[in-house]
Formats: sequence, structure tokens, C-alpha cells
Amino acid sequence: MIQALHVFHYVEVDSTNSVLRDMASEGAPEGTVVWADRQTAGRGRSGRAWQSRGDWGLWFSVLLRPGSAIPASYGGMLPVAAGVAVARSLAARPGLAGKVKLKWPNDVLLCGRKVCGVLCEASLLGSVVNWAVIGVGVNVSTPQGGFPEAIAQTATALDQHMAAHDVPDRAGLLSEVAGAVMESYGELVSHGPQPIVAAATELMSSMIGQVVTCTTAYGQLRGRVAGVGTDGTLLLTTDDGARFSVNAGDVHIGTGRFDTGGY
Ligand code: BTN
Repeated sequence: MIQALHVFHYVEVDSTNSVLRDMASEGAPEGTVVWADRQTAGRGRSGRAWQSRGDWGLWFSVLLRPGSAIPASYGGMLPVAAGVAVARSLAARPGLAGKVKLKWPNDVLLCGRKVCGVLCEASLLGSVVNWAVIGVGVNVSTPQGGFPEAIAQTATALDQHMAAHDVPDRAGLLSEVAGAVMESYGELVSHGPQPIVAAATELMSSMIGQVVTCTTAYGQLRGRVAGVGTDGTLLLTTDDGARFSVNAGDVHIGTGRFDTGGY
């Protein structure tokens, strides 16, 4: 089931997700990878920019073509499965065991700071996922002069947590992390969502039971994290006992403005 990876390596692109989306529309096969040393317009979740103008990180996207292999009802597991894959793969590196966590849906945290972000973009055909582009950005080294100001307080890089000789080269890390994404995807196809839900729940264990504020397109929702649904949603229980499944949003640990608009 696991496809070979076909890697296209560029010095600079606007966004590896954008390049791969175009290739997907033109019929590129599953397992196509676009990897760039720098991105001039890297994109993050919720329309944010992803700081990747320099070669301090691993910036790549991989193409999946689930078709009928993944029912639309758990297509939302793809972003979660991708986050689980990166977290597992980083946690296996020397010195990082026990330090890697997942923040729903797929931010990978190292000692509480963001080391990797994942942007999934999909094209649906009827009720199936025709293709999905999984974009992964891992901060490998700390940029000279430090991270750009916008992320200086929240970001970290692998080199801050491991001996210099253990910091992976980007080509090696690419094959490991992209391979792990394909493996998690294979697990999802073969066994359904439950094993990935269990892995995500374990990696998010410090969030479970915490009160969080979730910012979504419809407003903010505050509640206690009950877990991850088999459709990839974040399960929240509010103070009055109501249960919500959130399918897209940003989670902040702690309380915030509670706005029920849209729910
Ligand atoms: C996020 O946390 O907001 C997601 C960030 C995803 C960044 C990666 S870098 C490679 C790929 N190309 C992009 O433009 N974005 C993703």
C-alpha cells in the first residue's frame, strides 16, 4: 500500500503546497513530493503566513490520492494522521523521546514550543477525497539572528534540543518524515481511524481535560477537551455540559472570550 516517493527538489518556490496542488490537478501520482529550500510565500493554517524564507527548516508537501479508500466521514482524520506521523518521527530522534507533543489538530510541539506545522489541503470529488496535499514545515536549525519576530516567542527548532552532531540533515529528515506520513496514511486506510485517534490522544494527553478556548470561523468556544473524534474533530464539553465537535480552529490553553455565535 505504501507508495514510493517521487521527490522534486527546488531551491525556491512560493509555497510547496501551491506547487503540488497544481501538479495534483495535472494528474501527478500519489507519493509525489515537492521539497524546497526556501519559500517566498509559505502558507499556514487559517490563512496565516508560514515563515520559511530561509533554509533553516524542512519545507515539503506530499500528495495523497485516497479516493474511495477513505470514506468522506473520516477524511478529517488526514490532518490528524499527518501530525501524528511527524510527532512520532521526531520523537524517535536522539534526545527527543518524551519531549514531543501534539496540539490539535496537528501542531507539533517540542518542550512546549512549536517545532512543526502541517497544512492539509484537499480536493473532494463527490463524497470522496480526490487528492490531499499534506504540507509539512519543520524548524530544523535556529535561523541566524533568531526567528522572525512574529514567531520568536512561540517557535523552536530541533537544534535547540539535541547535540549538534545529532541534528539531522534535511534530506534524511525528509525521507523519514515523508515516509512516516505515508505510513500513518496506510494505517488509516487499513485499520480505520481508531489507531490514529488513540495515538493522537496519547500525544495530546496534556490537553485532555484542560479548559481551552477554540477560535473558529464561527467565533470562540470555551470548553474542556474530551478527546479527538473518529472524524478528526476536537471534542469539547462546555461548562453547561453541552458537547461540541470542532472541525477547524485554533486552540489556546486557558480561558478567553466565550462567544457562542455560529454554534
Ligand atoms: C501551520 O501550522 O499553520 C501550518 C504550516 C504549514 C507549513 C508548511 S511548509 C511546507 C508547506 N508549504 C506551505 O506553504 N505550507 C506548508
